[in-house]
Amino acid sequence: MNNKVINVAVDGPAGAGKSSVSRLAAKALGFVYVDTGALYRAVGVNALRKNVDTRDKQAVAATLGDVSVDLVFEDGEQKVLLNGEDVSKEIRTPPASMAASDVSAVPEVRAFLFDLQRDIAKRTNCIMDGRDIGTVVLPDAQVKIFLTASPEERAKRRCLELEQKGTPQKYEDVLAEINERDYNDSHREIAPLKPAEDSVLVDTSFLTIEEAVASIINTVKEKTADEI
Ligand code: DC
Repeated sequence: MNNKVINVAVDGPAGAGKSSVSRLAAKALGFVYVDTGALYRAVGVNALRKNVDTRDKQAVAATLGDVSVDLVFEDGEQKVLLNGEDVSKEIRTPPASMAASDVSAVPEVRAFLFDLQRDIAKRTNCIMDGRDIGTVVLPDAQVKIFLTASPEERAKRRCLELEQKGTPQKYEDVLAEINERDYNDSHREIAPLKPAEDSVLVDTSFLTIEEAVASIINTVKEKTADEI
């Protein structure tokens, strides 16, 4: 046992269950759960508020001059602040999702958010989820997981989630959006979504949330047996 900070990187496509699974696993391990997608979403919301075309990379980069994005943790829950304002709800709308995907392809945006993610990981045992955590942000993380599921299964889950939130959407539209975001996220030039070479692949298509959480916890325990 030593005092080294433990970092768990969880990457994977939209809707694979990264956030629910990571949140529960972090809780069970007593780690902080960090959702990095929220940062890209906040930058996306900022661009939308300024009526910027989020596919215009230069225009998006120009929005970074006078913006502050921060993560705070209250009772184990993450809140994302845009210029000090809590935008944790606003970042979850479908336009914010597409805007996040667009702005995440802008190198200046990735550079802008890099230190913030690194600093959090440096000081706390955490499970950090995103697209490039194991490959770019935390290449030295002790544990790297690539969490995935088929697009159809992910669309089904997203529909259920939206229905429960009272904002139902058609399955075909949700599936199309997932396919579009998958394509964007894995074909962009900078930090594309791909499994780190040393990551453990977890396919949740046929797993319950509990099974996926158990698989993450077991992997973390195995890989850090002498550290926790
Ligand atoms: O995980 P999410 O759906 O909240 O992420 C929103 C968008 O942000 C997603 O389209 C990809 C991008 N993203 C990224 O490029 N890198 C990360 N580490 C996290 C998210």
